[in-house]
Amino acid sequence: MQENNTLPITINKAETSRLDQVDFENLTFGNVFTDHMLTCDFVDGKWQTPVIKPYGPLTISPGARVFHYGQAIFEGMKAYRDEQDDVWLFRPEENFLRFNKSSKRLAIPELPRDVFFEGLLTLLRMDKNWVPKGYGNTLYIRPFVFGDQVGVSAAPSGTYKFMILLCPVKAYYAGDVKVLIAENYSRAANGGVGAAKAAGNYGAQFYPTSLAKEKGFDQIIWTDDCSHQYLEEAGTMNVFFRINDTLITAPTSDRILDGVTRKSVLALAEREGISTEVRKITVSELLEAAKNKSLKEIFGAGTAAVISPVSGFGYKDDFFELPSQEDSFAKRMKKSLLDIQYNISKDPFNWTLKV
Ligand code: COI
Repeated sequence: MQENNTLPITINKAETSRLDQVDFENLTFGNVFTDHMLTCDFVDGKWQTPVIKPYGPLTISPGARVFHYGQAIFEGMKAYRDEQDDVWLFRPEENFLRFNKSSKRLAIPELPRDVFFEGLLTLLRMDKNWVPKGYGNTLYIRPFVFGDQVGVSAAPSGTYKFMILLCPVKAYYAGDVKVLIAENYSRAANGGVGAAKAAGNYGAQFYPTSLAKEKGFDQIIWTDDCSHQYLEEAGTMNVFFRINDTLITAPTSDRILDGVTRKSVLALAEREGISTEVRKITVSELLEAAKNKSLKEIFGAGTAAVISPVSGFGYKDDFFELPSQEDSFAKRMKKSLLDIQYNISKDPFNWTLKV
């Protein structure tokens, strides 16, 4: 159980800023980091000594458990700059709760709320100038934690490091994406770590994704581990299918991430009178809907990916192109979401938090 205990943050400011060396027009997602980062250690059974210091390398023993047993989890969040130059977070509480849920699954000690929020807000205020201007441009926030105790016995680490890094970013995908339905690969199994943002869940997608890329696809849609008949989520995002005028997405489970964008899209769609169904959807249902043209669109939803329309999907040797539409649900959902995130429209759900 995490508890609230404010820890004083030691601040060690960078002597100079690298901000004016950054080409904001040509950012590649996640390659540029701001001037500062946050670190906080779990030592002697408690979280202690949060420090904000210049972004830079860590000294870590090669015997640290994270390298041997992958005891690491992360979150993905974003900060948005509005027209008045105020900066906003979107549903940060959801990320905090999921961070600790993921930690618990990986036997990592939960983080006190204040360490997460004080650390995050202090860091963001220090590097606020790095939040890029412009609709669609954001500061991507990467909180993560890993076991750093030395020892290769297969046991949980006794010490951990929590960190937050910040990256100014543009869109994750430049345009529409093509997805391949995975015939043989799954993100996770029942009882596994699929619901956690475990680092290894994402590492495990690289190989099947590279096979899909060789065939001209950008990403895969995982199918369930038992039958490979149920569509689960994509490599970096949850997935929505529009059949006729109903938006369908798979229920969350042990295997599927409870995505913040996913649940926001469901709430926005319902508010806008779009019919939604959270239910299992099979590959055969999708193929049938593609053939009889009731499948109108597919899009991915995630913090990094935002709303990414799918232009077509592959299954075995077949490829199904999806019609591009002026008034797609993907466009509508993206606009409704971004307008709230950039403080352009009213936030009826109380989702945003001013930094
Ligand atoms: C995010 O959307 O923040 C994610 O965690 C996906 C990431 C693998 C890019």
